Amino acid sequence: MNDQNLMEKIVSLAKRRGFVFPGSEIYGGLAGTFDYGPMGVVLKENVERLWLSMFRDDRDDMYGVDAAILMNPKVWEASGHVKTFADPMTDGKMFNTMFKTSVGAGEEVSTVFLRPETAGGIFMNYKNVVDSIHPKLPFGIAQIGKAFRNEIAPRDFIFRLRELSQMEVEYFVSPSEWEQAFEEWRSMMHLFATAIGLPQDAVHELEVGDGDRAHYSKRTIDFEFDYPFGRKELWGLAYRTDFDLSAHEKGSGTSLAYLDEETKEKFIPHVIEPSLGVDRTILAILASAYREDELGGEVRTYLALAPKIAPVKAMVSPLLKNKPELVAKAREVRAELKKIHPAIAWDDNGNIGKRYRRQDEVGTPFCVTIDFDTLGENPELKDTVTLRHRDTGVQERLTIAGAAARIREAIS
Ligand code: GAP
Repeated sequence: MNDQNLMEKIVSLAKRRGFVFPGSEIYGGLAGTFDYGPMGVVLKENVERLWLSMFRDDRDDMYGVDAAILMNPKVWEASGHVKTFADPMTDGKMFNTMFKTSVGAGEEVSTVFLRPETAGGIFMNYKNVVDSIHPKLPFGIAQIGKAFRNEIAPRDFIFRLRELSQMEVEYFVSPSEWEQAFEEWRSMMHLFATAIGLPQDAVHELEVGDGDRAHYSKRTIDFEFDYPFGRKELWGLAYRTDFDLSAHEKGSGTSLAYLDEETKEKFIPHVIEPSLGVDRTILAILASAYREDELGGEVRTYLALAPKIAPVKAMVSPLLKNKPELVAKAREVRAELKKIHPAIAWDDNGNIGKRYRRQDEVGTPFCVTIDFDTLGENPELKDTVTLRHRDTGVQERLTIAGAAARIREAIS
């Protein structure tokens, strides 16, 4: 399969199985916008939840915020975005990629920006978090949210969007500790890549040289991924120094210094920023999970998603849908499995082979089938089910409790 072909297949599967749809499609779409469908939205939530637990909730030094997208435009003047958040145009003119909108009406109308990075909202809440929670340095603030960039050339499906989601951390440290924190977050980003199932050999680090870094950064590592269209930036890790807090202190006239209660030292903290685009993460997951093989003499497509992030953990199905006793038993088994995880699907549509193929394309790790042996036609097999494994197509005969244990183990 050539890479162009692979990309087309991923886009087609994403639409066919309800992962990602083109935005406002029946009106011809809107470049740089995509919508997540029933499967995509759960995949996205699973990725975000995993990020929240690894980057925020499993740590004692991290706090969350959910800041407003619209902010006082002075935020973006002070941060340098009004001046420098720009892409070169073909005729040499620089084009600021921040979207503008207006607030208010009549005489009161004023221009504001849609945030181009969620980071701005975190810096706006640094002082609020210090004053309300009194965290000790080093500490960080994590946020997931939308950001907007009027990209001149949106492209490559959900890779370069005009409306995107970011998972960002601003980690505040004393100036002498930035290198250690940088290394810790660097390792954490690799751990996260592994946790979401990206192959280690497809993720590469690029040390961004002087002149190529964002205006606020003294050191940046781009985490690149081998997408079907080439090796491209997946995530970024930046050392933003005290650039933002100092700029906002100057711009607002409000002190943003941190007082170390022990040493009585007052200083502006420095910042390490691991910044992860959600959509690029989803695309990397889809690209690395896409598989074609031959099963039962037919070519089949499946997504080898890590069970932890798969939108459906298992599908339960009665062998025949017109046999009420099979349906009732299958409903009972599904209710049992739902105690392990809510994402246990039901499918009684078409023949069993078709049901398996549908779930393969969604990336469902297990299918559980209830047949006449489950009901005791063969007394030795009473209360056993078939557990089918997505990647191999292999089917095992297990007790209901045994199948439940397998599923629990795989998704925990
Ligand atoms: N706060 C730092 C920041 O925004 P960035 O490198 O401009 O840095 C961070 O963006 C991440 O956001 C990128 O590594 C990428 O994952 C994602 N991202 C940036 N622009 C994007 C776009 N137009 N479409 C999709 N994702 C994008």
